Amino acid sequence: MKAMKRPILIHPDPRLKKVCVPVPDLSDDLRVLADDMLETMYAAPGIGLAAPQIGILQRLIVLDCVKEDDDEPRPLVMFNPEIISSSGETNVYEEGCLSIPDQYAEVTRPKVVEVEWMDRDGKAQRETFDGLWATCVQHEIDHLNGKLFIDHLKPLKRQMITRKMQKLKRERARA
Ligand code: NI
Repeated sequence: MKAMKRPILIHPDPRLKKVCVPVPDLSDDLRVLADDMLETMYAAPGIGLAAPQIGILQRLIVLDCVKEDDDEPRPLVMFNPEIISSSGETNVYEEGCLSIPDQYAEVTRPKVVEVEWMDRDGKAQRETFDGLWATCVQHEIDHLNGKLFIDHLKPLKRQMITRKMQKLKRERARA
């Protein structure tokens, strides 16, 4: 079956503030969902997407931080991802989010994280991520806990971005 693009929710939306529930046993429905999320992410284009961003409140994220077009893509599907350990050393990246279009801000996070998850075949995986991959996986796992990258910013900056998004949503609703 061909993967299908799903509409991405735009902040502010109550579904983006919810703590998502763990995925129980893997099913074909969940694999279809993961494939749809990858399709949606690549089409956006983006480097990560979490299930709540398409209105599904389950612990599932997808990511692919391979930047160069010449390199092989590396789509990762993570069910119930968990950060096992984080480095004391931090990294600053300018982050964006498909649910907060065209807004970017610097966020400080641990530079290296070790993550455990269940893959698309239901197998347990564990891997250490560094650099952009580490930032991206932390950003996506935040989504599963109802947290957006703007929640890492100072309140004034966060409010400014939220107001811009409210305006964008009003404009889109009128169009
Ligand atoms: Ni995001």
